[in-house]
Amino acid sequence: MIPRDTVDKIIDAARVEEVIGEFVTLKKRGANLLGLCPFHGEKSPSFTVSPVKGIYKCFGCSKAGNSVNFVMDHLQLTYPEALKWLAKKYAIEVIEKELTSQEKEQQTERESQLIVMQYAQRYFTEVMTNTDEGKSVGFGYFSQRELSHALIEKFQLGYSLEERKAFSVAAIKAGYAPKYLVSTGMSILSNSFVEGSTITEKDIFDRYAGRVMFPIHDDGGRVVAFGGRTLSNDKKVAKYINSPETPIYNKSKVLYGLWHGKKAIQKVDRCYLVEGYMDVIAMHQAGFENVVASSGTSLTVEQIKSIHRFTKNVVVLYDGDEAGQKASARAIPMLLEEGMNVRLLFFPNNDDPDSYSRKVTADDFTNYVHNKTEDFLYYKANKLNTETKNDPIKKAGVIKDIVESIAIIPDNIIRSVYVKECASIMQIEEAILQQETNKVRKKLLGKIFQSKQESESPENALDTLPPEELETKVEEKEELLKLDAEEKELLRLLIAYGNAYVTIEAEDENLEKFDLEITLGEYIFFELMRDNIKFENPVYAELYDEYVNELSNQRLPDLKYFANHQNPLFSSFVINHVYQKDELSVHWKNFGVIVEAEIKKLINGTQKTLFSYKARKISALIDDSLVLLKESDDNQTELIQNEMKQLLEMKKRVNKLLGRIVIK
Ligand code: UTP
Ligand code: MN
Repeated sequence: MIPRDTVDKIIDAARVEEVIGEFVTLKKRGANLLGLCPFHGEKSPSFTVSPVKGIYKCFGCSKAGNSVNFVMDHLQLTYPEALKWLAKKYAIEVIEKELTSQEKEQQTERESQLIVMQYAQRYFTEVMTNTDEGKSVGFGYFSQRELSHALIEKFQLGYSLEERKAFSVAAIKAGYAPKYLVSTGMSILSNSFVEGSTITEKDIFDRYAGRVMFPIHDDGGRVVAFGGRTLSNDKKVAKYINSPETPIYNKSKVLYGLWHGKKAIQKVDRCYLVEGYMDVIAMHQAGFENVVASSGTSLTVEQIKSIHRFTKNVVVLYDGDEAGQKASARAIPMLLEEGMNVRLLFFPNNDDPDSYSRKVTADDFTNYVHNKTEDFLYYKANKLNTETKNDPIKKAGVIKDIVESIAIIPDNIIRSVYVKECASIMQIEEAILQQETNKVRKKLLGKIFQSKQESESPENALDTLPPEELETKVEEKEELLKLDAEEKELLRLLIAYGNAYVTIEAEDENLEKFDLEITLGEYIFFELMRDNIKFENPVYAELYDEYVNELSNQRLPDLKYFANHQNPLFSSFVINHVYQKDELSVHWKNFGVIVEAEIKKLINGTQKTLFSYKARKISALIDDSLVLLKESDDNQTELIQNEMKQLLEMKKRVNKLLGRIVIK
């Protein structure tokens, strides 16, 4: 671990204009510098660097951060890697902090595994380029599948010799401990191995003997696993063997192709989702680098989230065969639920992207991909419509089908667009489709409510309303914006003034009033905690959690802590919502004191936001309960009524507090 004071030293030295200037041409414009944004393709510059504030911000794609964030993003490094990169540039010595023996052990395990994987990748490539068997069998296979040399190199493909111990023996000879060969899954223990004894060469054999090798990279470009394809056509042999789950390979998180594709995904703002290793590579060969595959598992929510970091737009290109259809039937609802815009692309005759790309010319393939991509819901609506044409009874039956897909979309506005469009495609009345969608959403909401999940997303709270109550809906939309604004304001106060000591009038157990001196941060925390209030906006919730986490470790995070945080969401929050707005915090930062009158203003302002936010949250919960009450059966009713009673009491208390604040 890099010690905090070294981190500060690096951040101080790394002048933002100097660091960015290495990668982007910057021109002076007033107090700032201006250039072309490296994160999205643009023709006129909207990328601004402020040397005074030490930050950059793009007004085109709203990327923002400090010099460390820039290096992380641009060079695709992790936070510690970016710091080390900068330290090197500024000749700052980094002496990493001693780890505890447990940390050390965990780190050694992971690091040793990473080193083994790096060795393995180089070994398989070496075998494929420099041995007779490798050249004829391994390289021969990829050539027959028409992969270019450049792509074989880019994806670091390789070959594992037929001889069943070749890799294990070579690795041991090169100095790698057998236990790590086994723990990475590269070698397999033989049955005769006696549990508890030391692993030696005779106890292990290769997992991938006689297969072509596809290294799987993590987000930082490190090899964490392999997929190995058999060259035999024997149906009894597994076509692909993949690494097992290990400390460095979390199958549900890693996506094949993400490392190679993330820049393109970001730039094009779209991600192609394919089924196989070869499909990813074939798409690259055809000029589409924005592509990933969920390797060795079916698609998981975590994988979807990691795509979502880069784009909201996904095109599913699964095979047309039965397995592929099953996989997409499973994946699509998950994608919709995550709020992704889902499109589909089918290839003719059960081809996959790889096989189709080899049947047609490059231009035809490109045109096919561009022209045949269809929005999933419109595709489905069209299909259902054709199937049930002129048969109203059948049509009524399939409404449910389309409604199930629409209802899981979290965003209100997108959902209502789909209701409208799908109603028109299927020639049914929009109101009917809307009503049915609302019904399904209520059920979904009910499920969440029953499982006592506390933090509902704001859109969900809106949607139980029947469509005719349009006015209410508009009001609620405004409510939602206010909620968001209040959360933002509370966070701004936390970050800018969380460390300021304030005096609050409190009550002890006997309801005696007394003055309590605490930090503003603690005060906000206690107030939110006592009514179990959770932030709606997931980014704000994450920031708040971080604050609370620091508090619970007896630390008082300040503005600098968040501005220099490794999570770029945090630093851009500070840049966009704290720095720009806050004269007072600059003052506070410079002199470390706030005069008394300002403290008074601060505490009043905080309380006003805090109580009004709480009142709003509680009202929303009450509204939800009311809607649920209408729909609920007998044994739910009591539960909901009890909950409502508590909410109403809370509301009364908060409103009383709100009435007491006088803003001067
Ligand atoms: P496919 O069977 O569609 O193979 O499996 P493919 O990608 O078209 O492979 P080629 O073109 O025949 O070489 C799709 C993906 O499912 C995983 C692999 O990630 C594969 O790329 N898979 C498949 C396995 O993990 N194990 C298997 O035995 C088969
Ligand atoms: Mn294939």
